[in-house]
Amino acid sequence: MRVFLAGGTGAIGRHLVPLLVAAGHRVVVLTRSSDSAAALASVGAAPVMGDVYDQARLARLVAESEAEVVIQQLTAFGTKTGDPYAETMRVRVDGTRHLVAAARAAGVRRFIAQSISFVCSPLGTGLTDEETPLYLDGPASVRAFVESVASLERQALHAKGMSGTVLRYGWFYGPGTSWDANGFIPCAIRDGTYPLVGSGAGTYSFIDLRDAAAATIQALAHDTPGIYNIVDDSPVPLNEWLPFAARLLGAPPPNREDAAAARERIGDIRVYYMNEQRGASNAKAKRALDWKPAHPSWRAGFEALYLNRLSPSPPAPRR
Ligand SMILES: NC(=O)c1ccc[n+]([C@@H]2O[C@H](COP(=O)([O-])OP(=O)(O)OC[C@H]3O[C@@H](n4cnc5c(N)ncnc54)[C@H](OP(=O)(O)O)[C@@H]3O)[C@@H](O)[C@H]2O)c1
Repeated sequence: MRVFLAGGTGAIGRHLVPLLVAAGHRVVVLTRSSDSAAALASVGAAPVMGDVYDQARLARLVAESEAEVVIQQLTAFGTKTGDPYAETMRVRVDGTRHLVAAARAAGVRRFIAQSISFVCSPLGTGLTDEETPLYLDGPASVRAFVESVASLERQALHAKGMSGTVLRYGWFYGPGTSWDANGFIPCAIRDGTYPLVGSGAGTYSFIDLRDAAAATIQALAHDTPGIYNIVDDSPVPLNEWLPFAARLLGAPPPNREDAAAARERIGDIRVYYMNEQRGASNAKAKRALDWKPAHPSWRAGFEALYLNRLSPSPPAPRR
């Protein structure tokens, strides 16, 4: 298939591009970086230089790619200047709008977009599924973030003339992510600044980056529009994974922090994650996309990451 990929140079893109090429797809990848363009070419993709906010150029690049499918894997949490939440909200709302418009104008048939599984309503018990409403009635700062996810999903699912698929990935872990051995979270755990907030009941559904990329390949192979949770088989509360990770990292047990105090210090959204979020079910993706995680448990994944038992992974493009 001919594929136009936006967001092919980040954490998931580094795994996804080689899989797409190996599956025989012709892959055109948008990037703003000439170093990343060279890295993409070296793995058999066709890089094109451009910014998703440059609408006219984007429309031309998508048309020239003659793509049948546009894949949106954009986020901007790695932004060094400014607020990464604001940048990611912008790319989800405006970036998706520009990509959908470019795809429609070029007669593209399908649109596949990256979303997240961990902004569903915390009301209710057990795992969330694809029918669970997004958490649009939380505190204002959470609501603004979740509205950007809702906008992305609406645009992807209801793009006129195209079938839309939304992949709600769990919490990425693996090289190059916040959970990398030297990533933000292990560093904070080591220096005792990653607290166990409230009762630590927030339940995380993790996903190994390689499984997330493999699910995207399956979504491409199955033209079954809709929303799919792409998460591992082992949802786990903060009060379980955090002490486990601390032990693996040789760090002291995490400090406890009262939820109200944490809200003041780190904000509503992180308190929601640490104390309130529910895990997600992957049953629908297993059933409809013929996918299952090769790394079903974050436990083995964290052991591999933190005890140096990792198999080699694709190198990060230089920025
Ligand atoms: N589900 C999850 O847990 C989840 C989801 C997303 C991110 N994260 C984590 O957050 C961290 C940083 O992620 P990140 O958001 O910085 O993603 P990233 O992994 O750096 O990837 C961002 C991608 O979006 C592209 N992009 C962003 N803005 C663009 C624009 N204006 N025009 C064109 N392309 C644009 C980048 O392309 P170029 O830079 O090549 O132009 C890049 O390919 C990682 O640790 C990642 O694991 C986690």
